[in-house]
Amino acid sequence: MTSPQASPARPLGVAAIGYAFMGQAHSNAWRTVASHFDVPDFEQKVLVGRDAVAVAAAAKKYGWSESATDWREVITRDDIDIIDICAPGWLHAEIATAALAAGKHVLVEKPLANTVAESEAMVAAAQAARSVGVRSMVGFNYRRVPALALARKLIAAGELGTVRQVRASYLQDWLADAESPMTWRLRKETAGSGALGDIASHAIDQIQYLLDDTVTEVSGKLHTFVSERPGPDGLEPVTVDDAAWATLTTAGGAIASVDVSRVALGQKNALTIEVYGTAGSLKFNLENPNELFFLNGTEPIEVQGFRRILVTEPEHPYISGWWPQGHVIGWEHSFTHQIRDFLNHIATGTDPSPSFEEGFGVQQVLAAVEASAAANGITVTIPSLLPTSKD
Ligand SMILES: NC(=O)c1ccc[n+]([C@@H]2O[C@H](COP(=O)([O-])OP(=O)(O)OC[C@H]3O[C@@H](n4cnc5c(N)ncnc54)[C@H](O)[C@@H]3O)[C@@H](O)[C@H]2O)c1
Repeated sequence: MTSPQASPARPLGVAAIGYAFMGQAHSNAWRTVASHFDVPDFEQKVLVGRDAVAVAAAAKKYGWSESATDWREVITRDDIDIIDICAPGWLHAEIATAALAAGKHVLVEKPLANTVAESEAMVAAAQAARSVGVRSMVGFNYRRVPALALARKLIAAGELGTVRQVRASYLQDWLADAESPMTWRLRKETAGSGALGDIASHAIDQIQYLLDDTVTEVSGKLHTFVSERPGPDGLEPVTVDDAAWATLTTAGGAIASVDVSRVALGQKNALTIEVYGTAGSLKFNLENPNELFFLNGTEPIEVQGFRRILVTEPEHPYISGWWPQGHVIGWEHSFTHQIRDFLNHIATGTDPSPSFEEGFGVQQVLAAVEASAAANGITVTIPSLLPTSKD
């Protein structure tokens, strides 16, 4: 295990692996974070992809000094301190464990990996790395939407009383067309699962994050509505789910329902979360990301109702780095906040959250949904969780 060059005299060197959807979103965050927040000095050094010409063009456009096509070579470089993994799930475990062993701090996109076994290996690598001061984090970026960070604070402060019930729904329609072609996201060996790992992972992380609780029992159902899609060599079987449903019980006694789909015609990226407690309730809709609706159930019934909180005050989480009140922010800002927090944890020598242990916890819930679905929806108990480090 290599130790990081603790507080190197030069700026921290960053390399990102993958330059498509998440590679672009993360690059945007790396490019803007220092203009809005106090973070340690860093340099966007290398962007890594497979196609030399295309990755060179992306590097230029997204603000990276260089590009490369071999991530293995990049993680051995002495001038690289941080590896930001924006590659598909089947590469997460291999890249993250190698980078951590090389003493590089690692931010990896969600879900942590494609399987529980891979996640376990990643947790072991993160724990060994942590013991020599190397940090690791999973990119559940919705934790850093100010309205959702505020929701967690309100729940922790007891504003909802005891949480009884949560509804988390994440609906998209980019696979509604049966002619939509095969991609890595539709093959089990590359994606692990379908809508389940892709978007239910966000919903499950939110439930555990908002309630500061862990899921203990799961009952689930998976369905593939379009079983074959056009591939490079003709029709190819789809080996992952198009949609997933789950009922979760938490250690604290709350019950949560999760429904996710990539074939929900008309829904583009509809993440909605509702939390119902004994004393209050919260509602969030990603299509209006600056708003949180709060009902205070202790007010006189005549004046009770969901109050719209415009989460753009400097007192709200992360907002002091942005614009004057009422000047709204968007989806991409959650990635900037993620980079801010990751950099500051590196600078202060503390562990960021969500940790790999927390990513592993989500992976266990995903696996339990699959196991339940395969057994006609029976209730599956989550094995006891590894220790979790939190902010
Ligand atoms: N946080 C979020 O909201 C969010 C949204 C979408 C995707 N994701 C996650 O981000 C990850 C990437 O998804 P995406 O949508 O960006 O996928 P994508 O298909 O758009 O991009 C994948 C990138 O990885 C690169 N890549 C593949 N193999 C490589 C290799 N061997 N070496 C170097 N680069 C390689 C590809 O060239 C491409 O640039 C996945 O884990 C996904 O679940 C997260």
